[in-house]
Amino acid sequence: MILMSGAEVAESLERRLKDEVGALRGRGCEPTLAVLLVGDNPASQSYVRAKLKTAERVGIHTRHFELPQSVTQAELLERVRELNGDRQVHGILCQLPLPAHLNAEEAVQQIAPLKDVDGLTAASMGLLALGAPRFIPCTPAGILEMLRFYRLPVAGKTAVVIGRSNIVGRPISILLSQRDWNATVMLCHSKSQHLAEWTRRADLLVAAVGIPEFVTGDMVREGAVVVDVGINRVPDPGRPKGYRLCGDVNHDQVAPKCLALTPVPGGVGPMTVTMLMDNTVKAARLQQGLAP
Ligand code: GUN
Repeated sequence: MILMSGAEVAESLERRLKDEVGALRGRGCEPTLAVLLVGDNPASQSYVRAKLKTAERVGIHTRHFELPQSVTQAELLERVRELNGDRQVHGILCQLPLPAHLNAEEAVQQIAPLKDVDGLTAASMGLLALGAPRFIPCTPAGILEMLRFYRLPVAGKTAVVIGRSNIVGRPISILLSQRDWNATVMLCHSKSQHLAEWTRRADLLVAAVGIPEFVTGDMVREGAVVVDVGINRVPDPGRPKGYRLCGDVNHDQVAPKCLALTPVPGGVGPMTVTMLMDNTVKAARLQQGLAP
């Protein structure tokens, strides 16, 4: 069984990114990522910390804005508009989820298309659906990079995705069906009937439901490649932090059946962060008039 290490793939990508950042610096361009974090969601704070740390490692400059829980929609939109107009800023990321009183969709759609390093605007999604992606959302991009790195078979295979979010499930299902990957794709979700019958047919199973250990051993076919996108905090009073991290896949049950599996933590998570850096370098290159 291949345990797909996000850290290993990320490390090799980071070497290339450092070179690209160096080349941009040589042209007088300092690649810069603006990160907006609203409120005090501990998981979001931890993701943002990881993003800032990785940016520093590869030499990407960051501007970190912590907005209070009480920020208004108008103030948030104004901040996005300001960053859109700032020529020193190449990428803008608004950490999700936002507090319930804010309209996240409106805020994200306000981001300038050439600075949309999360790949969530209508422009980015439209290009992706047309088969000419500019910015691929970071988690799907990370999944594809891992499949490429470990040379796992995808073309002509049956891929089943569980979860239809705009950030993971929907885009990865579209990408896997396109000419670069040539999978036959089934997109399952919370209303899907006979789910296990579909998942048991999967040569490649992507679990992106956000339910701890949702995928059990009986749902997986022998020899499948399983990508676990979940990062769930399950209360565990025995742990120093009072919780443990687990994926959407029951690893003990599923691992013995797999050709390859991503661990949690250390699988898709680190790749998501690295692909954000990849998109930021791409944004800087585009804004410099260079080929992406
Ligand atoms: N929250 C969890 N994952 C992500 C992500 O990839 N981008 C943003 N903006 N927020 C997230």
